[in-house]
Amino acid sequence: MEKLIITRPDDWHLHLRNGGMLKTVLPHTARQFARAIVMPNLRPPITTVEQALSYRNEILAALPPGSAFEPLMTLYLTGSTSLAEVKAASESEHIHAFKLYPAGATTNSDAGVADPKQIYPILEALQKYDLPFLVHGEVVDPEIDIFDRERVFLETHLADIVKQFPALRIVVEHLTTQDAVEFVTEAGPQVAATITPQHLLYNRNALLVGGIKPHYYCLPILKREQHRQALVNAAISGNPKFFLGTDSAPHLQHLKEHACGCAGCYSAPLALELYAEAFEANSALDKLEGFASFYGADFYGLPRNSESVTLTKTTWTVPTDFDTGEGLLVPLRSGEQLTWKLI
Ligand code: NCD
Ligand code: ZN
Repeated sequence: MEKLIITRPDDWHLHLRNGGMLKTVLPHTARQFARAIVMPNLRPPITTVEQALSYRNEILAALPPGSAFEPLMTLYLTGSTSLAEVKAASESEHIHAFKLYPAGATTNSDAGVADPKQIYPILEALQKYDLPFLVHGEVVDPEIDIFDRERVFLETHLADIVKQFPALRIVVEHLTTQDAVEFVTEAGPQVAATITPQHLLYNRNALLVGGIKPHYYCLPILKREQHRQALVNAAISGNPKFFLGTDSAPHLQHLKEHACGCAGCYSAPLALELYAEAFEANSALDKLEGFASFYGADFYGLPRNSESVTLTKTTWTVPTDFDTGEGLLVPLRSGEQLTWKLI
C-alpha cells in the first residue's frame, strides 16, 4: 500500500506540560490529532476543575492559528480529592476523566495516591457520575521488580476495583504486558486500555542492548518480546477495548541524558507514522483506523471525527531535536528515517 486515508485520529493519553515546552510540543500533536486526553501531572498537579479550565485556556492560547485541536482535560487524584470536586467535574463539559498515579510511580506522581483503597469513596462517585477512571497501573513497592510492577498492580489493586465498581469505566493506561492484555480482554466492556507506539515497536532490548538508550526509557518500562507481541495482537485485533494513546511525554535532553534520566518518550511529531509502521509490520494496516480513530471516541462517549488524514509511503528523516527555548527536546527515532509520512 502506498497511501492510507483514515478518519482523523485522537490521542487518548498525552503529556503537554506548560510554558516553552507546551509551545513546542502542542503544534506537533495538533497537526496529527483532532483531540487528546491531556494528562494532569504538572507541577503542581491539576487537581481541581478550576485549575483544569485555566490549563485548558493556556493550551488553547498556545495553539497555532486556525487549529481546531481540542484538549480534553483530566484531573489528578490525590488522597484529598473531594466528592464535591468529582461532582463539579461531572458538570463541566471540558473535564473528561480522573487519573490515578500511585504515589512515586512515575514523573510528577509524588502527590498521587498511596493506597488505592483510600480513594474508594471517590471511585464510587466516579461510577455514579459515569466519569472514566484512568489508571497508571504500577505498584511502587521497592520489593517488586520493575518488570513485574504492572502485573502486580492488576492482581493486587485493579482486580478488586473492577469487582467493587462494576459500572465504573476504567482505562488501563499504556499497557505493557501480556498479563495486562489478558486482564483487559477478560473484563467487561467498561474496561479498556491505551497502547503506545513504543510498546508496539520495541522490547527492552531497544533500551538496554549496545549501551543504555535513555530516549527509550519510559514508564511502565519496555518489556520482553513476548509482551510486545501480545500488545501488537491486541492492537490489531479489532477489539474496541484497545485504542491509541501515545503517552508522548517530553523531557529536556539534558534531563533524559542524565545519570538519573527522566521517564518518558517524546513521540508526538511522528506518532501516527510509528503506529502505521507497527500495523504494517503485522499486515494489519486495515485495522489502524478503528484503533486510532474510532474506539477511543466511542469509549469516552464522544462523536467520531469527520475529517480525514493521509499517510503516504515516503521516506523522511525525523528531526534530531527541537529548541524549546528552555533547552533541546529529542524525539523518539531522532535523526532516523521513517517510511510513512503524514501529509
Ligand atoms: C510520563 C511523564 O513524563 O509525564 N512518563 C512516562 O514515562 N510515561 C508519565 C507517565 O505517564 O507515566
Ligand atoms: Zn503518561
